[in-house]
This record gives sequence, structure tokens and C-alpha cells, in this order.
Amino acid sequence: MNFELTEEQIAVRDAARDFAVSDLLPGVIERDEHQKFPAEQIKKMGEYGFMGMMTAPEYGGGGMDTVSYVLAMEEISKIDASASVVMSVNNSLVCWGLEKFGTEEQKQKYLKPLASGEIHGGFCLSEPEAGSDATSQKTMAEDKGDHYLLNGTKNWITNGNSGSVFLVMAQTHPELKHKGINCLIVEKSMPGFEVGRKEDKLGIRGSDTHSLMFTDVNVPKANRIGEDGFGFRFAMSVLNGGRIGIAAQALGIAAGAYEMALAYSKERKSFGKPISAHQAIQFKLADMATKIDAARLLVLQAAILKDQKQDFVKAAAMAKLFASQVAMETTVEAVQIHGGFGYVKEYHVERLMRDAKITQIYEGTSEIQKMVIGREILK
Ligand code: CAA
Repeated sequence: MNFELTEEQIAVRDAARDFAVSDLLPGVIERDEHQKFPAEQIKKMGEYGFMGMMTAPEYGGGGMDTVSYVLAMEEISKIDASASVVMSVNNSLVCWGLEKFGTEEQKQKYLKPLASGEIHGGFCLSEPEAGSDATSQKTMAEDKGDHYLLNGTKNWITNGNSGSVFLVMAQTHPELKHKGINCLIVEKSMPGFEVGRKEDKLGIRGSDTHSLMFTDVNVPKANRIGEDGFGFRFAMSVLNGGRIGIAAQALGIAAGAYEMALAYSKERKSFGKPISAHQAIQFKLADMATKIDAARLLVLQAAILKDQKQDFVKAAAMAKLFASQVAMETTVEAVQIHGGFGYVKEYHVERLMRDAKITQIYEGTSEIQKMVIGREILK
């Protein structure tokens, strides 16, 4: 496998880094503290092409490969994981799902504005009683001939308030279990769509996570993705790709914390020398750098396999499992290297430590990734 980056990929990575420093860094601490959605910044990310990076240009996207996408995700996540989760859900779940499985009409109507960043979307699978156990969907999509009648509640929906279009998994034929689930494209403006409670989260506090309620929402049949009953397979396929984006987010959080700890260790003096001159700190930095490089190789492996149209399910789950673990371990060590300064907000690393935790939970917990890897190994 060739891990050498092309000139174009390096240019994308550098552009994402510049954007993160110039546009996301200012105000990131305040947005975290006040749970303020980065609306202006997300709009700009759309204008710069970060919201539909892998979507074909004919549908408003950048036509880039997955490697470019993960490089951009890493750079943006180093600075602001709240912005990068908005980007990740829109790119890998919503746009990629629509492009791969949507009809031409759905692509013209929904994918174009989503990929060009005019609007962004959300992915609605989780329910109060269906998180990891995603087959247990209680939201109902009753078949009414030319439309579905949608009723139910979704929880922990990223972009729940800021998003305009949502891919909603709902049960149509309960007797068929997961084979009776459909995925419907639901517009926020449809009567009966209600945005519920905003979650007060530990991390990624700038992103808006809401419950969504559907009461007799009339969704045209033309808004169903794939054949009748394809919804669960759709969700699983899309999540396989989504996990590469979240793995890149975890990698970025880890690398951001490491870079800050490295810089700090060269400035901060104790016992008459920079703390980086102490072996205790060098050992920490060495462990962090090694784990981050290993995580990056796993993320790139998954992205390259996806770009080569090879089976990437196991590689994506491995990348997410490992990178999210590295994000936790590395951010804890970055706080430790900063000592007392690491425990206060102005040094960023405490925020990165809080942000890291979600990468072990969303788009499948670490335990789910192990299930997926185990099944792939044994199949
Ligand atoms: N890829 C493709 N297909 C898959 C799959 C995968 N990774 N995992 C399961 N499937 C398919 C199976 O092949 C099976 O299909 P058939 O019946 O046609 O053979 C079907 O799905 C059901 O599979 P299982 O019988 O294995 O179902 P299960 O209940 O035992 O396990 C699971 C399924 C892997 C645990 C699945 O429910 C899962 O991945 N759960 C986690 C859900 C998740 O990631 N939620 C994240 C929410 S979205 C989010 O976080 C977005 C955000 O806002 C950031």
C-alpha cells in the first residue's frame, strides 16, 4: 500500500490547516463554553468546499478522494472537533449515502445543496431504546400508498437544529425486523417535524445535538432511499464509511493535543531546564507520537481501501477503534504534561480531552467496532 501523498492531497491538507488556524481557532474556547454552533465558520467551510469533499462535481461536490477528506478532517479536528463533526456527518453519512444510493431526482434536489454547503444535513438512526442495538427501531414509517406517515423520536442527532435535511431510519414492516426498515429523506420544513431538547454535552459542545420528534409527517415515497426495506443495510453501509471520518477526527484530536504538549514542553521550565529535557516527559512524548503515527496509518489504510473500491469494513472499524483510544490516551497525557495549566480552559488541551471521549461512543461504540472487526475476521 502506497502511503505517499500526492501534491493535490498535500495542498488540501495545508488549506484545511490554514482555514482551521485562521477561522476556527479564534473563539473556539468561547463556543465550547457557551455551546455556540459555529454557523459562520460552517458556512465558510461550505464555500471552501469542505462540506461535500468526496461528492462528484456534477452534484456540487469537490470530487476528491477519501484520503484528501481524512487529511482535511485531521487538520480541522486538531483545532475544533465541534466543526469537524458537522463536516463529517454531512460528508460521509449524508452526501456519500445520497450519492451512492439515491435516485437522480434525489441527488438533484438534495445532494446538490448539501454537497455545495448551501445547507447541511443529519443522520437519524439512534433512538431512546435503539443506540448500539440499531435494529430495534421504534420510529414508524407507515406505508400510505404514495407517501409514508412518519411517527417517532430520534435522539442525539448531530446537526439536529442547524440541519435542513435528515436521513431518517424508520420501521415499515415490523414483522420483517431489520429488513422492514426504510430510510426516508425528511425536510425540516415538513409539517409535524419538531426539534426537541438540545443536549448539554461533555465535549464537542459547539455542535448542536438534539432529539427530533416526528408526528404524522407526510413523506413522499419518492424520498425513500433504495428499495422497500433497504434502510438498515443503507445505514450500516453508510456508517462503515462514516467511521473513517470519525477515526480521522479522533486522530486530529490526538495530534492537536500532542502538538500543543510538545510545544509547551519546550517552553516550560522546571528544575532549571525545559521539561522536554526530562526523560519523564520524553517518554510521554515518544508514546504519544508512536500511537498517533500508528493511528494515522490505520486511518490512511481504510481511506485508501475505500478509494480503491476494496472491502474496507474491517479497516474502518479498526481505524475508529484504535484512533479513538489514542485520542483518549493522548489527550489525558497532554493535560498531564501541561500540569495545572492543562486543567484550565485557555490551554485547549482540557477541551480536546473532553472532545476525545465522544469518538469512542458515536458512529458505534468501541465495543461495536470490536463486534464488527470480530465478525469480519471470522466470516
Ligand atoms: N456493514 C454492512 N452490513 C452490515 C454491517 C456492516 N458493518 N453490520 C451488519 N450488517 C448487516 C448484516 O449483514 C445483516 O444483513 P442481512 O440480514 O441482510 O444479512 C444486517 O445488517 C443485520 O445485522 P446483524 O444481524 O448482525 O444485526 P445485529 O443487531 O446483530 O448487529 C450491529 C448489528 C453491527 C450491532 C449494528 O446494529 C450497529 O452497527 N450498531 C451501531 C449503530 C451505530 O453505529 N450507531 C451510530 C449512530 S449514528 C451517529 O452516531 C452519527 C452522528 O451523529 C455522529
